[in-house]
Amino acid sequence: MTDAAPSAQSAAKRIAQLRSELDEHNYRYHVLDEPSIPDAEYDRLYHELKALEAEHPELITPDSPTQRVGSLALSAFGEVRHEVPMLSLGNAFEEGDLLDFDRRVREGLDLPAGDHSGDLFAEGVDVEYSCEPKLDGLAVSLLYERGQLVRGATRGDGSTGEDISANVRTIRNIPLRLHGSGWPEVLEVRGEVFMSKAGFEALNARQAESGGKTFANPRNAAAGSLRQLDPKITASRPLELCAYGIGRVEGELPQTHIGILQALKGWGLPISRELKLAKGAQQCLDYYRAIGERRETLPYEIDGVVFKVNSLASQRELGFRAREPRWAIAHKFPAMEELTELLAVEFQVGRTGAVTPVARLQPVKVAGVTVSNATLHNMDEVARLGLMVGDTVIIRRAGDVIPQVVQVVRERRPADARAVQVPEQCPVCGSRVERTQLVKRSKGRETLSEGAVYRCVGRLACAAQLKQAIIHFVSRRAMDIEGLGEKSVEQLVDEGLVRSPADLYSLTFEQIVGLEGFAELSSNNLLAAIADSRTPSLARFIYALGIPDVGEETAKLLARALGSLARIQRALPEVLTYLPDVGLEVAHEIRNFFADGHNQQVIRDLLARGIALQEEGELGAEFAACATLEGLLDKLNIAGIAATGARKLAEKGGSLDGVIALSQDWLELSVMKGLNEKAKQALREHFAVPANVERARTIEAQLREFGMHWQSERKAVEGLPLAGQTWVLTGSLEVMSRDVAKDKLESLGAKVAGSVSAKTTCVVAGPGAGSKLAKAQELGLRVLDEAEFLAELSRLG
Ligand code: IVH
Repeated sequence: MTDAAPSAQSAAKRIAQLRSELDEHNYRYHVLDEPSIPDAEYDRLYHELKALEAEHPELITPDSPTQRVGSLALSAFGEVRHEVPMLSLGNAFEEGDLLDFDRRVREGLDLPAGDHSGDLFAEGVDVEYSCEPKLDGLAVSLLYERGQLVRGATRGDGSTGEDISANVRTIRNIPLRLHGSGWPEVLEVRGEVFMSKAGFEALNARQAESGGKTFANPRNAAAGSLRQLDPKITASRPLELCAYGIGRVEGELPQTHIGILQALKGWGLPISRELKLAKGAQQCLDYYRAIGERRETLPYEIDGVVFKVNSLASQRELGFRAREPRWAIAHKFPAMEELTELLAVEFQVGRTGAVTPVARLQPVKVAGVTVSNATLHNMDEVARLGLMVGDTVIIRRAGDVIPQVVQVVRERRPADARAVQVPEQCPVCGSRVERTQLVKRSKGRETLSEGAVYRCVGRLACAAQLKQAIIHFVSRRAMDIEGLGEKSVEQLVDEGLVRSPADLYSLTFEQIVGLEGFAELSSNNLLAAIADSRTPSLARFIYALGIPDVGEETAKLLARALGSLARIQRALPEVLTYLPDVGLEVAHEIRNFFADGHNQQVIRDLLARGIALQEEGELGAEFAACATLEGLLDKLNIAGIAATGARKLAEKGGSLDGVIALSQDWLELSVMKGLNEKAKQALREHFAVPANVERARTIEAQLREFGMHWQSERKAVEGLPLAGQTWVLTGSLEVMSRDVAKDKLESLGAKVAGSVSAKTTCVVAGPGAGSKLAKAQELGLRVLDEAEFLAELSRLG
């Protein structure tokens, strides 16, 4: 064909254009932290490139953004010799160690002693140091030749590492070719490959879900992900690079460490945002303290900061000692992980009766906090860890979360280590402890399996459950009874004054004033607070009941959608699943809770003591006529009938009765299209059972009664001024608490979300607002400060 050449030519041109555009966007996104286009636009360009390359495979080059994931898995990694050895760093643990380091540097450089006490001349000779966080990941070497990434390697023993080229290519913020110009012919970049805290949490959640291996900490996760023989696996892991130095170089570079890092940044390599220049040891210590204060809120884990003499000439003069440079040091933070002994596993009983294992530990200081207990979550976790009493374990404390046992040190297991045993009787009330069953419903079948959770069957007769239930019932977001702290609840229960939430409403002054910490005034205040709580909103009341899996949001949804306690109590699981975010599991929890005679009694007692629910009545407008016939057929759990089959049936049958009739009409059904024989058979059998017909009709009747039936009248949602809008609250609000602001917005019809996205309508930003505000500005969203927000609320009434 005559036009083959021009078409290949124009394809080559377009390919080059797309690659440089994509590279530019990558650079802005990963290095400058200033995304220039929405993800969707990036994807469009990427797919256009992918399609063009598929048409013209001869134009594919290894540095194309489409060529990150190679298709082959290796059988072993090759060896790489580091021409410039990859060194480690000396450590400073205390201020004194850092001052000693600075002194040695000065001596090595023949500078006067760093005594600032009145020595005016010493001022000018402070050594300049670069300051960077010490990321907790793995050191890698990236070799660029003529701007192309040609090899990636691990540190190994410092002289020989492993060739992990295929894996580093999959890391999104590592450029396959350098950006800009002016780079040396040969440039070996060194840096840390790490996993952010969020990436680590997400990966572990994903792994747990799919039954895969979970990782003890982000470092292990990064190491495990980078050392995969199959680069496809590495590609699916959230790894990142932070460049911190160079190895072999042929060509010109700036003559300071910070200059070099900035040059690397210009060539597309991500460097630390926290990079700073310090003059003298005192400024280094200031940096150490400042980063230390932010340690827990940084998005990645660090184990210290690194100080390096900034001048390369000075670095050369100082040289090396053994395998450590004399010009750099790591100033470490206290470790977040420590070893200790597991003394015992005890079992705690929670609000829903869950009997949870808790590790009692030989007390140990972890990053300045003494830890003597750690959560073990459930018995699956105990099994996963392979934990035995007497084991030496690794304890990890990160952020505000409760300390965790992350690993057992098997080599240190004593001969008399004992297995962890779930008690047969509740340690608090002596009732039976049962293993929960997991009910899985899939087409036509219900399967039971053993759950990881054990439960005490004692309910409110179990003091532990009763106490937790009352603590939850009176809490601020529930019935909001002020003045009743945990200690007082425990006393009320222990004294036998409160045996159920309803008993709170018959407490007398004499009973309260007898409690510890209650004088005349506080007793009267408590009585007043209890009286005030008699008129809760329906949502608060539902939340206060403490139905398993029903948090504040679900409680609000139930109240808003169904409008009355009576309807919520009677709602069938299939009807509940029409509400957004209510899955079958939660629906059954709700149903089981209200079907339970004991719970019914608690609710009757509460109402009998004068609890009067507010805002009861109307069905939520947005749920009117929300159900469909095909949805109902889908929910009936008939083998072989999923969404498409249900739609066909609904079209053909026209109504539930029509479908039931059709299912028994052998001739009609056999000629029906779009449903296979097996499904037809299952349908016939399903509705041949009177109980199944009855069930379907009961669900339909309830949908009709609740106004959710497809023939019900659809009500206008527009009623509320902020209906359909999504708001985000960030930073601290001073006049109005966040909870109140959230309630107000919701009562005006808005959804209040936790994160900012293109779908966000408006962001309310108080002082201290950070990344959410930045993102909102980046997306050009409407942003209000608190005063503007209050004005807006009053305008909306
Ligand atoms: S410089 C000759 N800078 O810490 C200097 N290392 O104990 C060699 N690390 O193997 C390293 N962040 O894996 C340097 N900003 C940083 C670092 C850093 C983390 C790791 C690196 C190295 C180890 C040294």
